Amino acid sequence: MTITIIGSGYVGLVAGACFAQMGNDVICLDVDENKINRLKQGIIPIYEPGLESMVLENQKLGTLTFTTDKKEAIRNAQVIFIAVGTPMGDDGSADLRFVRSVAEDIGTHIEREYVVVVDKSTVPVGTAREVRSIISSAIQKRNMTLVDSAAIDSHSVQNQQGSQSIAFDVVSNPEFLKEGVAIKDFMSPDRVVIGTDSPKALEVMKSLYAPFLIKSDRLIAMGIESAEMTKYAANAMLATKISFINEMSQICERVGANINDVRLGIGSDSRIGYSFIYPGCGYGGSCFPKDVRALEKTAADFGYKARILDAVQVVNEAQKMLLVEKITQRFGENLAGKSFAVWGLSFKPETDDMREASSLVLVRELIKRGARIKAYDPKAYEQASFYLKDCLDSLSLEGSKYEALKGCAALVIITEWREFRSPDFDEIAKLLNEPIIFDGRNIYQSLNMQSKGFEYHQIGVKS
Ligand SMILES: NC(=O)c1ccc[n+]([C@@H]2O[C@H](COP(=O)([O-])OP(=O)(O)OC[C@H]3O[C@@H](n4cnc5c(N)ncnc54)[C@H](O)[C@@H]3O)[C@@H](O)[C@H]2O)c1
Repeated sequence: MTITIIGSGYVGLVAGACFAQMGNDVICLDVDENKINRLKQGIIPIYEPGLESMVLENQKLGTLTFTTDKKEAIRNAQVIFIAVGTPMGDDGSADLRFVRSVAEDIGTHIEREYVVVVDKSTVPVGTAREVRSIISSAIQKRNMTLVDSAAIDSHSVQNQQGSQSIAFDVVSNPEFLKEGVAIKDFMSPDRVVIGTDSPKALEVMKSLYAPFLIKSDRLIAMGIESAEMTKYAANAMLATKISFINEMSQICERVGANINDVRLGIGSDSRIGYSFIYPGCGYGGSCFPKDVRALEKTAADFGYKARILDAVQVVNEAQKMLLVEKITQRFGENLAGKSFAVWGLSFKPETDDMREASSLVLVRELIKRGARIKAYDPKAYEQASFYLKDCLDSLSLEGSKYEALKGCAALVIITEWREFRSPDFDEIAKLLNEPIIFDGRNIYQSLNMQSKGFEYHQIGVKS
């Protein structure tokens, strides 16, 4: 199939590479000229394991191309994916500016007799219908005739008044990939959710995804609104699990229980399970914070106060401050003259993504109290230089995890990158002023850190 992906970020680039890998002809369109120029030169602008080789391979074959030319990208496409960002707006709702602008572009440039437009961006309920209406108006402005897609199979499409006729459907196909394992998730998804009221569009989507679902058919078809809602419900559920265990960790610290034991004790119940109940210093990333907030806002717009969603966010904000509180309890409110080593800046391991990362709160709060930060992250320096550009006077980005420790009052772990799991503890103790660790992800909880000579602070266990 001839596919156009609009928006070449974490989702668009992965989707484009994976569809190309399955033998489709894919064009990735983006308005960011710098990004497209880099991609044309084979430079991948984000870090995602396995992505680079897949992009380069398909680029070489000519099955994956990159452009900023909207007309060239859109006119010949059979399926067009919208994969642009939907950031948080000022009032907490999803900002649909980019989605609306793309819908306008699609209506202006589609030329095929029948096109399936796919909302892959995370968008509030009702957006697919709005996208449909924007595309329809743009097509009509071109004096072209809009044909119902249901009519396409049975009737030959007539040109009217010399202009071409066009039919299209808008489908909701939310994306569930996880950064860090995005290629695996896309190539072998738990499920593919397709929201549509058009049997014709459903057939197109089924054949597009069939190669990804060979082992078993995991495609779930439903109404458009349900598909849009499914994505928000999934992210809200996951965020709720994180805030739940973090709330338990706060209680554990106060009552003298150990959250690591409690996690095992509850996770062993198959109704609860082990995943997503790791205590930590709060969730971040480009999805959970904005999606939970946007769903709360949607609910409010429809007259419902979403109490659980509100609590999930309140707990998360508090959790992002927890390490700061532990550090100031230990060293005092005034941190002037002290340096802290921070390991991990990305919002989770195996990605360079720092959107809403817990590290942003910690670094800013410590600097606000006079501290200097020596940070190390395996992949996130380009993003750190952007998101923390106002902090660079008090923040240095170090060449190695050990380099970051020299002369610091303590080590603070924010992101559980694999290379942090088995470090040389003697070296850590030697390089720090004192052997003190604040572990925001409890990665050393099973080691006897005291016996290694460390003062060890973790989440959900009273120090
Ligand atoms: N990142 C994830 O893990 C993830 C997972 C599932 C769903 N999503 C959702 O997918 C969507 C995209 O997320 P992302 O992380 O890939 O975003 P991103 O910010 O990495 O990429 C979006 C891209 O869209 C481009 N863009 C903006 N306006 C455009 C326009 N008019 N025409 C062409 N390109 C345009 C931007 O330049 C950018 O490159 C969001 O709605 C997000 O919530 C993200």
